[in-house]
This record gives sequence, C-alpha cells and structure tokens, in this order.
Amino acid sequence: MALTVTERIRLRVDRFHSDRLTGQWGGRHILHSRAPSYGDIVLNSNDYLALSVEPRITHAIRTALRSTFAPRFASGAYLPADHPQVVLERSLAEHLRAPGGILCQSGWDAKVGLMQAIADPGTPVYIDQFAHMSFWHGAKVTGAPIYSFRHNFPGHLREQIRAHGPGIIAVDAIYGTNGSRCPLTQICDVADETDSVLVVDESHALGTDGPAGSGMVAALGLTERVPYRIASLAKAFGTRAGFVGANNADFVDYFKLESHPAVFSSTLLPHEIAGLAATLDVIRLDNWRRQRLRELSTMVRRALTTLEFDLEGSASHIVALQAGPDARAMAMRDFLEARGIFGTLLCPPTTARNRALVRFALHAGLTDQHVDRIIGACNEIRTHFGATPPIEPQPRPAKHAQPTHAGLASGT
Ligand SMILES: Cc1ncc(COP(=O)(O)O)c(C=O)c1O
Repeated sequence: MALTVTERIRLRVDRFHSDRLTGQWGGRHILHSRAPSYGDIVLNSNDYLALSVEPRITHAIRTALRSTFAPRFASGAYLPADHPQVVLERSLAEHLRAPGGILCQSGWDAKVGLMQAIADPGTPVYIDQFAHMSFWHGAKVTGAPIYSFRHNFPGHLREQIRAHGPGIIAVDAIYGTNGSRCPLTQICDVADETDSVLVVDESHALGTDGPAGSGMVAALGLTERVPYRIASLAKAFGTRAGFVGANNADFVDYFKLESHPAVFSSTLLPHEIAGLAATLDVIRLDNWRRQRLRELSTMVRRALTTLEFDLEGSASHIVALQAGPDARAMAMRDFLEARGIFGTLLCPPTTARNRALVRFALHAGLTDQHVDRIIGACNEIRTHFGATPPIEPQPRPAKHAQPTHAGLASGT
C-alpha cells in the first residue's frame, strides 16, 4: 500500500537520523561543537574586514534604532528618490560602477530574484559546478534548462554552449567553499563569443577586492562586460542584505515588480540601511584592511602549501582543508577547536559526499601571532591526520547536472 504524505515525510526525517546522525556522525550532530571563548581565533564568520565591532558602524546603527520611526515591513512600495534605501542603492551601484542597483533582503533573495527576472524556460543557464546553491535554485524556479560546466574551465563552458545554445552564464567571483577565483576575463570572452549573458556573484569579493573594495569585476576592468552582478552583504559588509547591480538603469524599476522576493517579502529595516551606509563609507576608506587581509592570506596559503595541503586553487582569504568523510572532518574540527582555532565544517549538501572541508575565513583583524597559531595548528593536523584525506575522484558533471560542491545558504 502506498505511504501517506505524513509517512513519507516521517521516512525522510527518520532516514536523516539513521543514516547521517547515528550512522555517519556517531550520534552527535555534525554542527554541534564547542563555542569559542576569549582568546580563541574565530574564522567562521565571513567578517573578512573585521568590521563587526567597528564603532563607526555600531554608532550609526544605534543612532538609527533610537531615532527612526518608519513603517517597518513595507515591501514593493514606492520609495521616493531621497529615501535612505534609495540613496544607498545609488551609492552601492556607484561603488560597483554599475548604472543601476537594487538592495535586497539577502544574497539568496537577490540571486533568486535576479534569475527569475532574466531566465526563462527557453534560455539555458550554464552554472559553474562549484557555484553557490542560490544560482541552482534561482534557475530552477524559472524552469530554464540547467547545464553545469567544470569548475573554472572556460573551454568546457564553450563546449556546453555550442551544444545547447546561447544562454545565461553563472559564476562566483571567489568560490566560497575553497577560495578559488573565477577566470573572469576568459569567461567574459566566452560570453561575448557566444552571445550569452554573464552573471557574477561577488559575495566573497565585494569589500575585499578592487579599488576601494568595489569587487573583482571592477578590479579586472570588466564592469561594462558583465551585465549583472549580485552580492550577499552578509560577508565583508557584515549584515543581512543582498545587492543586485545592473548595467542598465531601467532594470531597477523592472526588477522591483518582477522579482518575487522584492514584491512578496518584507524589506530591510531602517537601522539596517543606516548600518550598511556607514559600512560602505568604512569599506571605501579603510584600504589598510584589504592590504592586511591580502598580506596575511598569502602567508597562510604559502605555509599550508609548504605543509603539502591541497588548497584546491585557493587564491584569496578563504582557505579550506580537505577532510574527506564527515567523521574525519568532525575529528579535524574538534582537534582545531581544542587548539582555539574555529573554522567552519562544510559537509553535504554544501560539498559532494565524502568531500567535507574545514574552511577558514581569514580576516583583517588577525595578528601575526594569530597567523602563527593557525599555521602551527595545521602543522599538527598534518602530523595527526595527514595532509591529504582518502577521497574519491570528483565526478564529471552530467549533462543536466546538480551542484557537486555548491555553497549553502547558511554562512558560506
Ligand atoms: C557566493 C554566495 N552567494 C550567495 C549567498 C547567499 O547570501 P545570504 O546569506 O546573504 O542569503 C552566499 C551565502 O552563503 C554565498 O556564499
């Protein structure tokens, strides 16, 4: 007899508990570990520029909380040109060197809303195999055919487009799982050659890269070749919001009535807008934070490469140790935490099966002593666990592929 809906849901929950919680993880949830305490090095926050305790920002938020009385949950409503949210949209667009920009409630909403506004069932979407889950989800919602291409491999992208026709190309500037950088200039060449439209997710590059933190597209002089950019502002900007940058100013009004998250979900709060505006000022001014981040990230990557860790092409402030199966990743995470180093454990569905990672999101607030402690702890990891986990070869993406290594919404 067929199972009822309730029984089918029950089965899924039971399967999670028996296969993963009890089976793979030995009865303890993989994300349950110790909380950091004073003196520990916290590398799991994506606060790349160390702005979470910056007084210029916290002061702006406190002032707005005390003084603002405004309708709080209006969404899709008309806002006049001098409304703080509209003013900030213009400043952020200018910062990205984009003619138009829209603030969204999160990076996820920005991405899903953008894909909904530009993709359709007749337009293929080509997604880098490691790109963030929000691209896959956004494309799926539109009913577009989805084809993945091998990570950072413009030649495979070109092959896929030759086989299936021009479409929308979706890449991350910096990949949140392993810190590798997209070969953006070559991807732009493929987009131009094939009459395709490129979307770049700048979540992990905005603030940290480019002149005054304007992102990787701007750093490489590609602003006019990339029609759409999105970013989560939950990384270097340290808040909960997202942004869409577009190369045509008239896209803004269209998006605000086309994107379902923009129309059907509540909008940002006044104190969040005030905090973001102050953060943008700090990000533009404080070049030393980017310099420091680059300097210490290079130190960490060099040291870990010398220790023979395979950093999967990391070339940024995101550095991940390959851990293999979940149980091994838990042991490595606990080992590091016992030494006061708190990274993020990434496991399926963020990574492929048996390809878990322990990721460090480095930040500008780290001192040379912190860097020495991180490297020292990794040296011990190498002694106890080895530099390379027992991993299965990465499968080639199938024609209609699923993400194999995509970031998840929470904290990637
Ligand atoms: C590359 C990338 N894009 C989009 C998102 C989603 O952003 P948010 O957390 O602001 O919804 C994330 C966050 O995990 C991300 O890493």
